[in-house]
Amino acid sequence: MLPESFLNELKYRCDVEQIIGSYVQLRRRGRNLTGLCPFHSEKTPSFTVYPENQSFYCFGCGAGGDIVTFIRRIENLDYMEAIRFLADRVGMQVPENDLDDGAHRLRMRILEINRESARFFHKALMSEAGREARAYLIGRGLGKPIIVRFGIGYAPPGWQNLTDHLTRLGYTPDELVAAGVANRGRSGGCYDVFRNRVIFPIIDLRGGVIGFGGRRLNDADNPKYVNTGENPVYKKGRNLYALNFAKNTKRQELLLAEGYMDVVAIHQGGFDNAIAGLGTALTSDQARLISGYTQSVVLCYDSDEAGQKATRKAVRLFDEVGVRTRILTITGAKDPDEFIKKFGSDRFQLLIQGSSSAAEFEIAKLRSQHDLETAEGRVAFLQGFVRLMAATPSPIEREVYISKICRELQIDKQAVSVQLEAALKKRQRNDQQRQDRELGTFAAQSPSARTDFEKQRHPREVLAEEGLIAYLLRSPDKAGWLASQVEPRQLVSPVDRDIYAALLQRLLAGQDADMMVLSAQLDEERMRKLSEILSRQDSVAVGDDAARDYIRVLTAAEKAKTIEEAGKLQDEEWKRYIASLNAGKK
Ligand code: UTP
Ligand code: MN
Repeated sequence: MLPESFLNELKYRCDVEQIIGSYVQLRRRGRNLTGLCPFHSEKTPSFTVYPENQSFYCFGCGAGGDIVTFIRRIENLDYMEAIRFLADRVGMQVPENDLDDGAHRLRMRILEINRESARFFHKALMSEAGREARAYLIGRGLGKPIIVRFGIGYAPPGWQNLTDHLTRLGYTPDELVAAGVANRGRSGGCYDVFRNRVIFPIIDLRGGVIGFGGRRLNDADNPKYVNTGENPVYKKGRNLYALNFAKNTKRQELLLAEGYMDVVAIHQGGFDNAIAGLGTALTSDQARLISGYTQSVVLCYDSDEAGQKATRKAVRLFDEVGVRTRILTITGAKDPDEFIKKFGSDRFQLLIQGSSSAAEFEIAKLRSQHDLETAEGRVAFLQGFVRLMAATPSPIEREVYISKICRELQIDKQAVSVQLEAALKKRQRNDQQRQDRELGTFAAQSPSARTDFEKQRHPREVLAEEGLIAYLLRSPDKAGWLASQVEPRQLVSPVDRDIYAALLQRLLAGQDADMMVLSAQLDEERMRKLSEILSRQDSVAVGDDAARDYIRVLTAAEKAKTIEEAGKLQDEEWKRYIASLNAGKK
């Protein structure tokens, strides 16, 4: 456990508004601040920050807690790491003793192993052993500066090169396997995961090497890429390749490509704003991450079928987080890497400038599918066009395209508008239904689902418990009295019980009960609940009278429980029970 004095100072120095404000654009609303929740997709703000009690709560998804909880979730860290992260930020030193943070230790070891490995691979590439790999990279048009900048390396052929090197440095086989640079063999030993491959280190926003992508050279037998698997430091759906560089770009927009080679080639071509996913389709986490850096993304996916599909998905995900997208249509090459190599980066720049919006892209596609010289072709095209326009959120954009197409095909704008109205109405109905469905499943998955279960079974009791917790937070001086009225074990929800017990324990010991200290004691689910209670207290304060009512509810509930339990006794026991009552009467 960290010393309380340390936590208190950390709390004092951490300005919740400022720290959360660096992830979420906050707007002041009375005493509180609101913004778009970083933990789920939304268009109207339901995420609220309460500077007074240093907590946050999202009315949309139920995420909540104190600043430590926030950092844990958004940076994907464990408790100690979040504390270190915050301490770093405000210039404090975390008192070091041998804390039981094994998870943290493993992560630090993995990061060290990765850094060592990256160094090993890069050295191998630049040495005699890397001759063939260097030739391969040069053949693909990469020069030394970009190879050095991206720390590109080479894993030599053979099964033990890296494993031996790291073992000599004192890393254990278990650690190598955990980091994903070695696999466990049948005989119990370890062997290298990356063999005879060009290596792209993946670097996170804090400069840590979190994983690797390894591309085969010219041998067509092996899989094209071998990537680090998910592990405590590497979550592929939450990181992006080269964002560590691209986040510093002076350009307004980011270029999102499909692969490592594309990103490196685009950077070499003079665009320092290119990034890529890590071997998966774009995830909503990644879209949200990107939305923290730019309002506008150019999608530079491959020109094949898979690339088009990925493009559509990305457009939708970016739409959800309010990032504008334009789409690069690559002709004469299959991907940006090939395009730049064939036509040069000036042409690539022109391509970016001319990149079209999602609607334009789809219209061009639709056009190529129909013969506009025939009547049937025009009808079919227009039907598709109207459907497309109904799916285009911006009315201005719709207006522009409708005018353009109507002029071009010489048709009456009024006729198209009527069709569009009908399509829009239909779409709205569908959207509503889908949203209802999503909200339904969302509620079932939300972290509060478990508490909700108790709430359904004992609605009155849970409400009373929450009321008493709110009361304690507001009137800490009443802790002694309340403790004499209601014991923690009388609370029906285990979550409430723990919160209540922790609060009482601290208050009775004369300590204050603020969020930062509590979050050392309570897990994420409990911190979430606590902030939910706080957020409600913001509108309805619990006074002495209400507290007395709540106490009555809980004591009554306990009596009922005793009777209910008596009802469950087996016959034999029941007889004995009656007998004992009778005996008592004598
Ligand atoms: P590409 O095949 O387009 O890769 O796959 P690329 O990076 O452009 O590679 P080159 O130009 O052929 O050398 C796009 C991305 O999909 C993932 C990788 O992240 C790659 O960068 N991928 C692809 C894999 O993870 N495994 C594979 O076998 C293939
Ligand atoms: Mn490629």
